[in-house]
Amino acid sequence: MLTTLWNDFSLGIYPVALVLQPEVHPAQETMAYVKMRLLYISFFVLGALCLYFSMNNFSLFKDELVVFKKENGKFLQLPDVDCRQHPLFLAVLVTSSHAQMLARLAIRDTWGGEKVVRGKRIKTFFLLGRSPNQDIEKAVAKEGQQHRDIIQKDFVDVYFNLTLKTMMGIEWIHHFCPQAAFVMKTDSDMFVNVYYLTELLLKKNRTTRFFTGFLKLNEFPIRSKYNKWFVSKYEYPWDKYPPFCSGTGYVFSGDVASQVYNVSESVPFIKLEDVFMGLCLAKLKIRLQELHSKQTFFPNGLSFSTCRFKKIVACHFIKPQEMVSYWQALENSVGEECPAE
Ligand SMILES: *[C@@H]1O[C@H](CO)[C@@H](O)[C@H](O)[C@H]1NC(C)=O
Ligand SMILES: *[C@@H]1O[C@H](CO)[C@@H](O)[C@H](O)[C@H]1NC(C)=O
Ligand SMILES: *[C@@H]1O[C@H](CO)[C@@H](O)[C@H](O)[C@H]1NC(C)=O
Repeated sequence: MLTTLWNDFSLGIYPVALVLQPEVHPAQETMAYVKMRLLYISFFVLGALCLYFSMNNFSLFKDELVVFKKENGKFLQLPDVDCRQHPLFLAVLVTSSHAQMLARLAIRDTWGGEKVVRGKRIKTFFLLGRSPNQDIEKAVAKEGQQHRDIIQKDFVDVYFNLTLKTMMGIEWIHHFCPQAAFVMKTDSDMFVNVYYLTELLLKKNRTTRFFTGFLKLNEFPIRSKYNKWFVSKYEYPWDKYPPFCSGTGYVFSGDVASQVYNVSESVPFIKLEDVFMGLCLAKLKIRLQELHSKQTFFPNGLSFSTCRFKKIVACHFIKPQEMVSYWQALENSVGEECPAE
């Protein structure tokens, strides 16, 4: 699924001219002396070349950039939805792993599944890779047949394949559901208030080249080796990340999926899916926008209260049991007044 691209590297001008004209030697110079001088010159040239390459960050061997290869691998599972007949207002793509079955159940029972909000159709799908364990694989195939909401492809399902997982979702939208007005990408440990999100998207009234979430405009690669988010200079040579939205939850207009899919192959591959998305958006010159003047995306979590959660879009670090109890509390509080802020 990944290919290695050797960038055309131009070595630029050599610091030392390689054309060394043999000098006119006086008759008394012996051949041995000439050979010694040539040897010294070769050492000097070699030394200068070494210095030149060591001073250049992009040396011969560091200059390979890995790029994402689209259109690779077949889908193992496709959900049952006809986007052409019944276009979605919002398609929610949830990155999930085989072990998170309880989280998927909780999401289906709460904010996920299929909903109609203000007359708009919303449907949630789960993105999965492949497990090497046959029993687990069978269980997920069965779950998919039952719920018809799993999108699965044949890549190893590990955390650092999240970019592949996200791009699988983008590819699915591009091929099977380009009619979706909006797409959200989020995770299995997120609470999403689809009602408030729909309300804000309708109010915003943006239909193309729209991208929103928790904006990260000044992020730098972490270069300390023992950090979970360590990224080497080899993986990402630049000192700053492009603007991106936290991968915990971002929302974009449907057209962005096809555009991102289109440029994805020409963007250097990075395992951090939200940064990869940021690189694609930078290439497309799509600017990130706030959805609302107040904060609505909470990638660092937020303690629950019904009034608080009525006015948020997404909150991180939610366990399956919490998802169920928060959702019930919200449903039970419909019509109740909240104090004005
Ligand atoms: C991601 O999936 C690909 C394709 O299955 C695999 O070759 C690669 O090793 C996986 N990446 C990681 C970090 O395991
Ligand atoms: C949304 O924008 C379109 C034009 O982009 C405009 O015609 C329409 O009236 C707007 N709707 C609302 C509710 O603001
Ligand atoms: C994909 O890229 C090509 C070439 O850059 C462009 O002509 C085409 O319109 C793009 N398609 C989409 C859907 O953005």
